[in-house]
Amino acid sequence: MTNSDNTTRIEHRIDTRERAGKNRHSGGVLWFTGLSGAGKSTLAFALEERLFRMGYQVYVLDGDNIRHGLSSDLGFTPVDRTENIRRVGEIAALFADAGFICIAAFISPYRDDRMAARRAAMGNFHEVFIRADLSVCEGRDPKGLYRKARAGLIDNFTAIDDPYEEPEEPSLVVDTSSSTIEESLGILVAYVTSAFTVDAR
Ligand code: ADX
Repeated sequence: MTNSDNTTRIEHRIDTRERAGKNRHSGGVLWFTGLSGAGKSTLAFALEERLFRMGYQVYVLDGDNIRHGLSSDLGFTPVDRTENIRRVGEIAALFADAGFICIAAFISPYRDDRMAARRAAMGNFHEVFIRADLSVCEGRDPKGLYRKARAGLIDNFTAIDDPYEEPEEPSLVVDTSSSTIEESLGILVAYVTSAFTVDAR
């Protein structure tokens, strides 16, 4: 018995093909995973702007933003992170179904949670590993959180006292310790233009 036992699905009258035809590209989820400070948000918002100007329907779901709204009731215990990623995975899948390229930028440190997000998107899921070593992220420390975590002021901080499980077979790896933001963006735009086909009208 689950909470959905007494509910019935209703089909949309507009199908995926029709939406893709109107947008002139397919929808899908670009899932950015990586350590805090690796550059996920920076690249997600820059990519959103670039793709929007190119004519794509695109929207970013970002960890810090979502935690001010949808997930404002959650913290950073393993159970809470799993619930955060479950919610976001379902919403990203809805955006993809609506025809958008949804860029989801979350640490999402646990493989099983990312796998669940992949299942929710039913095949339209591209895992992008935004990679930078802990030493690089800690050196950047844009929000001063690594310093606080090292001082024992924040618990369960990813890669300090909570694990980060690296992707085993990501669709794309963007190494922000060896590439500039502009180079990383170029790699991402090239990936999107080949993975999200534009239909001729
Ligand atoms: S996730 O693990 O559930 O995917 P999410 O991406 O939503 O994390 O949020 C990460 C952001 O929350 C970080 O960029 C950082 O600003 C902030 N944060 C606060 N506490 C922690 C913590 N214990 N571990 C990691 N990030 C934290």
